[in-house]
Amino acid sequence: MKIQIARPYIDEDDVEGVIEVLRSGWLSLGPKYTQFEDNFAKYVGVRYACAVSNGTVALHLGVRALGLKAGDEVITSPFSFVSSANCLLYENVKPVFVDIEEETFNMNPLLIEKAITKKTKAILPVHIFGQSAEMDLIIKLAKKHNLRILEDACESLGATYRGRMVGTTGDIGTYAFYPNKQMTTGEGGMIVTNSRVIYELCDSMRNQGRNKSGDWLIHERLGFNYRMDEMSASLGITQLKKINRMIEEKRKIAAWYNAALENTLHIEIPKVGKDRTHSWFVYVIRVKNGKRNKLMDELARKGIQTKPYLPVIHLQPFMQELFNFKKGDFPVAEKVSEESLALPLYIGLKLEDVNYIADKIRTIIYG
Ligand SMILES: Cc1ncc(COP(=O)(O)O)c(C=O)c1O
Repeated sequence: MKIQIARPYIDEDDVEGVIEVLRSGWLSLGPKYTQFEDNFAKYVGVRYACAVSNGTVALHLGVRALGLKAGDEVITSPFSFVSSANCLLYENVKPVFVDIEEETFNMNPLLIEKAITKKTKAILPVHIFGQSAEMDLIIKLAKKHNLRILEDACESLGATYRGRMVGTTGDIGTYAFYPNKQMTTGEGGMIVTNSRVIYELCDSMRNQGRNKSGDWLIHERLGFNYRMDEMSASLGITQLKKINRMIEEKRKIAAWYNAALENTLHIEIPKVGKDRTHSWFVYVIRVKNGKRNKLMDELARKGIQTKPYLPVIHLQPFMQELFNFKKGDFPVAEKVSEESLALPLYIGLKLEDVNYIADKIRTIIYG
């Protein structure tokens, strides 16, 4: 038996859409990416959406569109995928980490104010694993200190916080569509905003700094090729049509895991914070007996793939070198990081698979 950690869900509608694009011969800057943007903006409930080639560049353009510059500081979470800090480094902006909450693994809003200095220009909350950060407090602090908000919702499309879609309450929200995400375009990302100015800046920067006149060889500003191609956009359109159903499926599997694991010694099942719905990018347990890696290795020997989501960003080798971070700087994030383990989660995983995985976990833990 081999059980992978993640797998995209692709149906005939997706396949036919991509084939239609290939047959049309219009592979870039065609009708699909704008249609995908319109549909996406409606789905999350914002004015503007700007499709790009992945989540990392969505964040990078977000940093540039907010006018963040060398020497500025941005407050963010150390418990994230490295892109949410790298996007700052690309512009020589300094990531200032604050520790996380035990319950949701998101940045602890009560620690933000202490981290604000004269150089702080923005807060970059990461909505980790499919669950929103405590946005009301973050927005309140941002207003009080005149800071911008760039949301990393790359792992949390479809999750809600007090009824609002994750990624839509800051100045800019960003999403990613890598094949392990809630929906996929192969590689792909999206920037959303309610500001026309920000949208137009991102639209231009993703397309080599061109302006709206459409003149191919006039570059109004420094730009990049961060465009989404038409095949990916087509996949985005057909995947978005079934996003609610896909999230529901994953919710059902998460509930199976909860039921199968909730009374297992040394295992802590994920918690969902108040006023939130979870969109289950991954299902992450905590292994409290100090033997997370042993469990991971033994599950791998039994054909079950798991991952130690996530290593903390501040202890990545290049980050330690750049900023002299050391073990102990963000103790909650470090503890969670040493204990957390993502289990297989994808549409098609059956109740008997979940029970099989839970059984193997128990055998290893109790053995
Ligand atoms: C929290 C977070 N931010 C950003 C990204 C970057 O997205 P991409 O891999 O599409 O560049 C990811 C991707 O996994 C992520 O998990």
